[in-house]
Amino acid sequence: MNMANHVKTFQVLILAFLSMVISIVHARVVPTVFVFGDSIVDVGNNNFLPNCTAKVNFHPYGVDFPNGTSTGRFTNGFNAADCIVQKLGLEMSPPPFLSLNSWTQTLGGVNFASGGSGLLDATGARFIQVLSLGKQMTDFETVVANLISNLGINKTRKLIAKSIFFVSTGSNDLFEDFQANPAKNETERCAFIESLVASYQVNLEALYLLGARKFALLSIPQIGCTPAARAINNSSGNCNEDLNESARKFYNSMQVMLKELSCNLQGFKYSLGNSYGMVDFFFKSPSRFGFTELTDACCGNQTLCLPGSTFCANRTEFLFWDVNHPTEAAYRVAAQTLFVGSREFVTPINFGQLAAIKT
Ligand SMILES: *[C@@H]1O[C@H](CO)[C@@H](O)[C@H](O)[C@H]1NC(C)=O
Ligand SMILES: *[C@@H]1O[C@H](CO)[C@@H](O)[C@H](O)[C@H]1NC(C)=O
Ligand SMILES: *[C@@H]1O[C@H](CO)[C@@H](O)[C@H](O)[C@H]1NC(C)=O
Ligand SMILES: *[C@@H]1O[C@H](CO)[C@@H](O)[C@H](O)[C@H]1NC(C)=O
Ligand SMILES: *[C@@H]1O[C@H](CO)[C@@H](O)[C@H](O)[C@H]1NC(C)=O
Ligand SMILES: *[C@@H]1O[C@H](CO)[C@@H](O)[C@H](O)[C@H]1NC(C)=O
Ligand SMILES: *[C@@H]1O[C@H](CO)[C@@H](O)[C@H](O)[C@H]1NC(C)=O
Ligand SMILES: *[C@@H]1O[C@H](CO)[C@@H](O)[C@H](O)[C@H]1NC(C)=O
Ligand SMILES: *[C@@H]1O[C@H](CO)[C@@H](O)[C@H](O)[C@H]1NC(C)=O
Repeated sequence: MNMANHVKTFQVLILAFLSMVISIVHARVVPTVFVFGDSIVDVGNNNFLPNCTAKVNFHPYGVDFPNGTSTGRFTNGFNAADCIVQKLGLEMSPPPFLSLNSWTQTLGGVNFASGGSGLLDATGARFIQVLSLGKQMTDFETVVANLISNLGINKTRKLIAKSIFFVSTGSNDLFEDFQANPAKNETERCAFIESLVASYQVNLEALYLLGARKFALLSIPQIGCTPAARAINNSSGNCNEDLNESARKFYNSMQVMLKELSCNLQGFKYSLGNSYGMVDFFFKSPSRFGFTELTDACCGNQTLCLPGSTFCANRTEFLFWDVNHPTEAAYRVAAQTLFVGSREFVTPINFGQLAAIKT
């Protein structure tokens, strides 16, 4: 072996060592993420529910996903779960719970979300079969039980305590209640919102008891401004103000509930994304983010986005992909805001600060 070859071998060894160090450092900073909620974060669980009618595993859904794959995400590309975990250094959301067949696949996190679902078990009944937040909790308990029997209680506790619990739910509960009871007065509407927040609290407490400590939560956006909501009750095409107002109240109640939880539960850390405020900011200065179309859906032209539906050429100009869901471009802006945003948009700390907390 001549000198040049020695140097080469040495360089290769150094490179191998460096990449090992980098992957160890990388492995340490990327946390485990557990995702719960609705179509904003579902990455394909509904595909596995035989009777579920809320499925989008067909083109043009996923047209901008890697390889153009229709994974069951309710958007053109990556969804909110993906865009948020990408900020943590992951490639995309952890896999859907129903796609897993071994406990080892849960070590990097699991996505339990189901499009059409809500906080209440009854929400989503019109889609025949969805996973309510309660069912998602049961599924998480199954994952924890499997981790405990394979890793032991102490390692499992440690893993769960440093994991991030990302939840996006509530929109479908509000939307369905509004459709079923359009004539509710303000007192009744408020009572319903309080009952939703109480149910949210029960689920967060249950997660805490299972060892969860770091909660990244997304409140309800201005659902009165989706193309679907604009179409329901207002031929003028204006936002549905009742729905917007309910979303705003939900955020305020969430803030009160979470402050109380963090007082009562030792080590409970949270970050609450103000989706209402973010959407408001969007609508006030859309050009700042490159959006030119805020009211029309890219796919399906204001009706459902179905197999073979036509869709807009430039998805980064549209806020909405279909009549109910934002585009990947909108999720990217939201993820960036949640990670580095000020208290106006995410409180009391942002997702980036939450992720950095050592537990
Ligand atoms: C799906 O629907 C079929 C036919 O109605 C029914 O027999 C079956 O129990 C349903 N399965 C689930 C999981 O709901
Ligand atoms: C895209 O396709 C390539 C080649 O089949 C595959 O290796 C890769 O994993 C796919 N990417 C995704 C995100 O599915
Ligand atoms: C778990 O940790 C506790 C204290 O940190 C220790 O007493 C106990 O033996 C550990 N249990 C197992 C199963 O390792
Ligand atoms: C709202 O409706 C409830 C039930 O119908 C009724 O008891 C209550 O007085 C109403 N409140 C207001 C402020 O109108
Ligand atoms: C919405 O429309 C339904 C009928 O489609 C009507 O019964 C209801 O009063 C309307 N609600 C509002 C707030 O306009
Ligand atoms: C419909 O739009 C009009 C005009 O902006 C607004 O005054 C009204 O409150 C809207 N109705 C609903 C139910 O949101
Ligand atoms: C939604 O409705 C609320 C309450 O009426 C209103 O303040 C807000 O501006 C509406 N949002 C948009 C984007 O128009
Ligand atoms: C899509 O729209 C964005 C924002 O208006 C623009 O920057 C970009 O150049 C457009 N892309 C194409 C392919 O037209
Ligand atoms: C949507 O439909 C309307 C009327 O049916 C039509 O004028 C418009 O050009 C269509 N938009 C797109 C993007 O296809």
